[in-house]
Amino acid sequence: MVNKILVVDDEDPIRALLCMGLKKKGYSYDEASNATQALDKLSRDYFSLVLLDINMPGTSGTDILPVIKEKYPDISVIMATAATDTSLAIQCMKEGAYDYITKPFDFNSLSLSIDRALDKRRLEIENRDYKMHLEQKVSKQAERIRKAFFNSITSLVYALEARDVYTFGHSHRVTQAAVVVSEKIGLNSSLVDDIRFAGLVHDIGKIGINEHVLNKPGKLTSSEYEHIKLHPEIGTRILEPIVNSKDILSIVKHHHERFDGRGYPDGLLEGTIPIGARIIAVVDSFDAMTSERPYRAALPHEKAISELLNGKGSQFDPDIVDTFVSLWRDNKIENIDTELPVLDYIKK
Ligand SMILES: [Fe+2]
Repeated sequence: MVNKILVVDDEDPIRALLCMGLKKKGYSYDEASNATQALDKLSRDYFSLVLLDINMPGTSGTDILPVIKEKYPDISVIMATAATDTSLAIQCMKEGAYDYITKPFDFNSLSLSIDRALDKRRLEIENRDYKMHLEQKVSKQAERIRKAFFNSITSLVYALEARDVYTFGHSHRVTQAAVVVSEKIGLNSSLVDDIRFAGLVHDIGKIGINEHVLNKPGKLTSSEYEHIKLHPEIGTRILEPIVNSKDILSIVKHHHERFDGRGYPDGLLEGTIPIGARIIAVVDSFDAMTSERPYRAALPHEKAISELLNGKGSQFDPDIVDTFVSLWRDNKIENIDTELPVLDYIKK
């Protein structure tokens, strides 16, 4: 775009002289005889530079300099002043003017100053555009890395579920239900994102559990049960090197804590259990009860709901159970899609 200069001076002969000089040098220009007219022209046209007289009756150049810099930060301003008044001009430079010229003008040095100001302005704009472009490139790249990361984790979850046909789709259903509950109780979106991810990986530690224990068709012995109870901590250890969110790790670690403090691994009590873990505990149990297992048939949904209600305050956070049950009764949980998408868990 052609650089256009606005000449602002209340004295007609000086303005005319300046305009003539600019015309000779091939600049495109317009003129204004006072501050109000200058601001009006700036609002209606695109200028690169303003030659601004300091001393004008009424609103002076020093008065409108901050207005111009604030509203049009890309416009360069060169102040024009009487030779005796340079301290004010220097003050203007501190407030954002690029340079000042003294009257009477030496047009060659004015032209030099204009060219330098325009060059500096062009470089600043180019530099800013480059930075913006770079930021977009970096954020696109970060998004690609995040997608690759979430895809890897999803694959890991599928690998886990492939070992155990009875829990196929479990992590996905738990995730979806946990997100519905989290949003219903009004958790902020970043916590909901953490819960979404934690839901997907909450049982990842079962990769470290002996397959015949995992798929045992009968009742577990106490040592087998103790072995299975290791999965939240194994999961946390698997995820620690790749997940930098403490919230996600603590949800995974504590999703088998009980509200009465009798859960594992740490026996945390009530409000000391992370909210995400309390939510996963409820939806995880519901999904486990209503799914077929090697050692029992699936429970009817109503029976599972009454089990949750029985566990209020002992196994489960009562408020979470109430929220879950009311969502379930409104068909917000039951109709969850059980397909396993690959990229469903990617944050925006
Ligand atoms: Fe679990």
